[in-house]
Amino acid sequence: MRYNANVMDEVGVVREKIDVVALIGETVQLKKAGKNFKGLCPFHNEKSPSFMVSPDRQIWHCFGCQKGGTVFDFVMEQEHIEFGEALRLLAKRAGVTLQTRGVNSGLSEKKERLYQLNSLAMEYYHYILTQHKAGKKALEYVQARGIKDKVISTFRLGFAPHQRDALTSYLIKKKHFTPEELIEAGIATQSGRSVVDFFWNRLIFPLYDHRENVVGFSGRILDNGALGPKYINTRETIIYHKGETFYGIHVTKDSIQKAKQAILVEGEFDVISCFQAGIPNVLAVKGTALTPMQVTLLARYAEKITICFDGDHAGQDAIKRSIPLIDKKNLQTTVVLIPGSKDPDEALKTNELMFKQALKHDVSVYDYLFDQAVSSADVKTAEGKREIADSFLPTLASIENMIIREHYLKKLSGIIDTSYENLVKEIDRLSRPIQAKEGMVTESEKRTREEILEEYLVSLILQSDEPRKAVDVSVQMLAGSIGKERAYQKIIYQLIEFVQDLQATFDHTTFSTSLPDELRSMYNKSLLFPLPKLSKETFLTEVRKTAQQLRELYLRSKIKRLGEQIKQKEKEGDSEAVHTLQISFNEAAKLLQDNTAM
Ligand code: CTP
Ligand code: MN
Repeated sequence: MRYNANVMDEVGVVREKIDVVALIGETVQLKKAGKNFKGLCPFHNEKSPSFMVSPDRQIWHCFGCQKGGTVFDFVMEQEHIEFGEALRLLAKRAGVTLQTRGVNSGLSEKKERLYQLNSLAMEYYHYILTQHKAGKKALEYVQARGIKDKVISTFRLGFAPHQRDALTSYLIKKKHFTPEELIEAGIATQSGRSVVDFFWNRLIFPLYDHRENVVGFSGRILDNGALGPKYINTRETIIYHKGETFYGIHVTKDSIQKAKQAILVEGEFDVISCFQAGIPNVLAVKGTALTPMQVTLLARYAEKITICFDGDHAGQDAIKRSIPLIDKKNLQTTVVLIPGSKDPDEALKTNELMFKQALKHDVSVYDYLFDQAVSSADVKTAEGKREIADSFLPTLASIENMIIREHYLKKLSGIIDTSYENLVKEIDRLSRPIQAKEGMVTESEKRTREEILEEYLVSLILQSDEPRKAVDVSVQMLAGSIGKERAYQKIIYQLIEFVQDLQATFDHTTFSTSLPDELRSMYNKSLLFPLPKLSKETFLTEVRKTAQQLRELYLRSKIKRLGEQIKQKEKEGDSEAVHTLQISFNEAAKLLQDNTAM
């Protein structure tokens, strides 16, 4: 994408005002590592940190999934949005008013328009429920369910009146939206030749994303005996993705972040009742199992997830299906059993104290599933043992942590009186397909040792306090043996040349502008490469050692190459060529011998 000069200025202004460490630090736990910060990558699953942030360069890079860039790239990646929207978001954060509109692509402008439209629809529904006589019955319904006026306003509950075009005609006639826009937002549908409201005679729950945009609605029927589904939701649109949203998150995310814990419930009323009862760190999946996107979003705010789903079969099944995802993100997971009620909303009404006690006695999700499995069949019969194993082992197979696995395997072995070894065999059979997938060679494993060391050497030089000295030390080692084919070799060459002409001290900005475009991203990566802890004294020693190892590798591959060429020429009977090659071979062998002795 190309932008005009004004836009580039604005991008620069915004970038200057947003600190990359502060921004990323809000959702990723960053620890100081030398000149940089490191943490667990939010964009792929990992258990040891390979995600680096540079306060000096104001950039980030993940050495696990190879994503990286500026503050804009981070927001685009995290929010799944394009550049224009990221710019707007960060400009808002920085308090910069954008003057140009050139950067608004069609899509992000359209999304912005739908947010506005939804927001007006939300206000309209809310007004009808709280102020208008058409909403009286609905208001009585909500109040009868024990919801206080203040909470109705916090969650902006609303009512869609009986009339089929109430909202549609308001938005078209008074607010000048087009029928197409209303349909695109999912709040209206085509009915014959006219456009009518999608929600009609329903209690309305606006659905927000975590950035507090109104992205859609869910509507509950008022009369349980009436025709049609109890809840209907906005269909998937360009701004509403069911698998990426939680009901209630706009109200509760700060409490979740503070508590480091999210209480996950099924429905809208569960969220609202919990909130009203003084349990503010709650949100709802709206009756389905968690998706990977939802878990990623949760991991931004919480370290622990407490699942409090309905006691019915669907709720239990949803718990099982959510586990492998949560396990991958390293989120501690517990389950709360609701004593005697179908869901939190009902439990709070029946016995608030008992529900709050139950919340305190949450059990590990594995204990929970274990007990479920064991109590579901007879532990004494062969058939019962098989049933128990069949129900619990797949859960265990999805757990990566071997200590947890072993703990439960031993427990199971005791209870169903089956040898530990046989259970291990059984679980291995189940986990094999998964392991095969994970056993695939990753990008970094495919690289040769030479490439890995080259990257390390460049990183050492660039992150050194004395890049110039580090280059000098490397030149002494590598002169004459280093090639010029690979990117990092090219950077080493560039460094050598740059340092040769250098009058003043090494300046990163000048050096980076001297690099051709295709090397600049590698240069940025090297500045973020996670180096081991090195003291000032040992730094240059590490540079020398690395360069020496590289030199040895270069010589070894040279010797191997020459050996092959000699064999070839011998076969061809070219004794002259053999002789010349032999001389080079001996030279390289001698150098290698000296190198190893260095
Ligand atoms: N749900 C949905 N679509 C449906 C049914 C349910 O989206 N057709 C979602 C809603 O978010 C609902 C949640 O699943 O809140 C739980 O559904 P259910 O247990 O059936 O709702 P109840 O708790 O019985 O409903 P309420 O509290 O409104 O009486
Ligand atoms: Mn429910």
